[in-house]
Amino acid sequence: MSTKKLSKTDAPSNITNNEKKLKNGDFIISKTDTKGKIIYCNEIFAEMAGYSAADLIGANHNLIRHPDMPRIAFKVAWDLIKSKKEFFGLVKNLMKDGGYYWVFAYITADLNASGSIISYTSVRRKPPQSAIDTIIPIYKLLTDAEKRGGMDASLKLLQSFLAEHKTSYEQFVIDLQKGATI
Ligand SMILES: Cc1cc2nc3c(=O)[nH]c(=O)nc-3n(C[C@H](O)[C@H](O)[C@H](O)COP(=O)(O)O)c2cc1C
Repeated sequence: MSTKKLSKTDAPSNITNNEKKLKNGDFIISKTDTKGKIIYCNEIFAEMAGYSAADLIGANHNLIRHPDMPRIAFKVAWDLIKSKKEFFGLVKNLMKDGGYYWVFAYITADLNASGSIISYTSVRRKPPQSAIDTIIPIYKLLTDAEKRGGMDASLKLLQSFLAEHKTSYEQFVIDLQKGATI
């Protein structure tokens, strides 16, 4: 039996427009090591992503990274969680069959008794449709900016968007989850 773990190169290239909706009240949970390799996931994660739990354990979390997600979103996430702060965000994830599902994600660092980061945990639930509808064009602007000018360009765009709306990234995302629109 092969012990080779799945990696980004095993992700589907046949991206489709088929959306799977997370059920109200369902939670997708995963835990990674400090590098983002999955060390635990619940059954709902496996079911939504379309892999077996055994396939997911040991794989890098970027296996389910969707190309419509701007890189800056993950940079914001890693910068926050590495400094032991919480991350909230709207994430479009890629399923094994090329489809996708949207989540409202929370990621946080797990600390040992001396305060060092030993792993990360993420819990996701279903976002309101209004949050998805609001974030889609914003992520499109950010991914387009990245194609032209990399993450410097998307960071500038994100900062000017937040300044224009007189909000912080965290507040903006939490407001979206509460049903706010812009
Ligand atoms: C606990 C945890 C959960 C994560 N969950 C996801 C996820 O659901 N989808 C995703 O695309 N990236 C997730 N990430 C971020 C990935 O580690 C990675 O940064 C992202 O997929 C972008 O990968 P890339 O920079 O290799 O393209 C998670 C990271 C951590 C630490």
